[in-house]
Amino acid sequence: MRKLEGKTVVVTGGGGGIGGATCRRFAAEGARVAVFDLSLEAALKVADDIHEKGGRALALRCDITNRAEVDTALAQAEAELGPVEVLVNNAGWDVFRPFTKTEPAQWAKLIDINLTGALHMHHAMLPRMVERKRGRIINIASDAARVGSSGEAVYAACKGGLVAFSKTIAREHARHGITVNVVCPGPTDTALFAEYKEGAGNPEKLLEAFQRSIPLGRIGQPDDLPGAIVFFASDDAGYITGQVLSVSGGLTMAG
Ligand SMILES: NC(=O)c1ccc[n+]([C@@H]2O[C@H](COP(=O)([O-])OP(=O)(O)OC[C@H]3O[C@@H](n4cnc5c(N)ncnc54)[C@H](O)[C@@H]3O)[C@@H](O)[C@H]2O)c1
Repeated sequence: MRKLEGKTVVVTGGGGGIGGATCRRFAAEGARVAVFDLSLEAALKVADDIHEKGGRALALRCDITNRAEVDTALAQAEAELGPVEVLVNNAGWDVFRPFTKTEPAQWAKLIDINLTGALHMHHAMLPRMVERKRGRIINIASDAARVGSSGEAVYAACKGGLVAFSKTIAREHARHGITVNVVCPGPTDTALFAEYKEGAGNPEKLLEAFQRSIPLGRIGQPDDLPGAIVFFASDDAGYITGQVLSVSGGLTMAG
């Protein structure tokens, strides 16, 4: 992928399944990676893997729902790794149950992590990118945002909101040399998906149903996602902004 060498990248939720795979891939492309996660332990594990392979990474505990923590972590990342050119908003969380069985306290937590957290990251990062007249933002939504998903109503609302927000920010900041694109994973084998399967009541049956309905015949693995994410961050994607790409084995084919 063109021109990722030496660039500083922030990945939120970088200690998780898709986030960890994304951090490792950016590091393999020669980027310097700031691994932001609520769990410092998880972030440290990913950073250690990158160091072992000779890459450059910094693990930082950062709760994206807390603006003060976001500001502190970004300042630390820039002080140690240099100006951030690429931001991947990947941290996410879900609770799996029919909407009428959910409570407002759960909605608040879902909105805080899946929507407000990403807003904090943009609000903190955009002025820096505007000043430098360049930046790449890749937001990780979900196919639930494009086609809906039973048991994930509020999560889907947040991810749909993130898609609309991304397109608006893409328009507002194109003149500053900043692109904003969205990657939508389908069912992907991570801790989050394990919880989804449990929440659905019959994990094995659900897995079988997904496998039958996914044209490419299997659920995703974390390593299926970084190619699309790294592409949007690369110079090859310099003329692409405000776009949404599903990486879901063909499960959804949105126009
Ligand atoms: N796995 C799937 O099937 C799937 C499908 C569609 C979309 N997604 C999206 O992909 C992204 C990555 O999910 P994953 O499947 O790798 O899940 P994961 O649970 O493996 O990783 C999520 C990471 O986010 C971190 N996190 C949670 N709350 C945070 C907060 N407040 N601040 C900072 N970090 C926080 C967690 O500690 C964890 O390391 C999420 O945005 C998720 O919604 C996943």
